[in-house]
Amino acid sequence: MEIHSTVKGLRESLKKYKLKNQTIGFVPTMGYLHEGHFNLMEESKKRNDITVVSIFVNPLQFNDIKDFEKYPKNEEGDIESLTKLGIDILFLPSSEEIYGQVGEAKIEMKIPALMKNLCAPSRIGHFEGVIHIVSKLFNYVQPDKVYFGLKDYQQFLIIKELIHNLSFPIEIIGVETVREKSGLAMSSRNSRLTKEESEDATLVYRSMKMAEKNSGKKNITIPTLKEIIKEILLSSNMIKIDYIEILDPDTLENKEFVSGKILIAIAVFLGNVRLIDNIRFEV
Ligand code: PAJ
Repeated sequence: MEIHSTVKGLRESLKKYKLKNQTIGFVPTMGYLHEGHFNLMEESKKRNDITVVSIFVNPLQFNDIKDFEKYPKNEEGDIESLTKLGIDILFLPSSEEIYGQVGEAKIEMKIPALMKNLCAPSRIGHFEGVIHIVSKLFNYVQPDKVYFGLKDYQQFLIIKELIHNLSFPIEIIGVETVREKSGLAMSSRNSRLTKEESEDATLVYRSMKMAEKNSGKKNITIPTLKEIIKEILLSSNMIKIDYIEILDPDTLENKEFVSGKILIAIAVFLGNVRLIDNIRFEV
């Protein structure tokens, strides 16, 4: 596996593949890799000649400096896993390489229709930071296909819209959430949970599945489904609810009735760790 820490090195290396008309799949990550990330990479490997992975903990997308500082890192382990997986290129830049001097003026992009609810109001500036870094990475790598996890569903929709709005010649593929046997969605942040917290974190998925099970009932309403979820989550005294939303998965608008396509999305705090998860289904 080639490892590049500079944009120049990365671009030069990519030239040889592009000259041969080889297709490039790209998986951006923040590292501390797990099965969820590997699944995206496997998808990319299946459908592209070469796969590029980036690891960069992007300071611009953290609204909470403590969360940024505590973000788990495992550079050596990640490199070993990526080598075993047969990834062709790893881009592993420093913050200076990406952002230059601190205090430099920065472009800020928003997609207002997709940044009204869910994680946007709880994490001010988060998606602006994600859009900024993802645009830069797309520019460096110029991939044919990019792979994003549906666990971060709002992020997936925002990047899909970014690609469409700015006419990036890129196809985006959303990959289903990989879960532990317990149902807990895999996340780098899970490593910061205590054993007891991880056990209670499984209530997130369980509560959404219970709501899904009830969604077929006659005359069931959105507030009742939210109540079912809330009751299950609050059966743990360690869980603090950030939001429980039931929305239209295409637009992220509120739904009046429990019918058609449904997105249930949840964010909770366990201690100071914030976890998100969602399911999508049709009634
Ligand atoms: P990170 O949290 O490292 O996630 C990288 C990619 O892996 C994202 O597309 C995310 O949705 C996906 N992913 C994470 N956990 C997953 C799981 N359990 N199942 C399936 N996919 C999963 O998301 C980011 O980094 C950053 O915001 C980034 C896009 C890299 C921009 O900085």
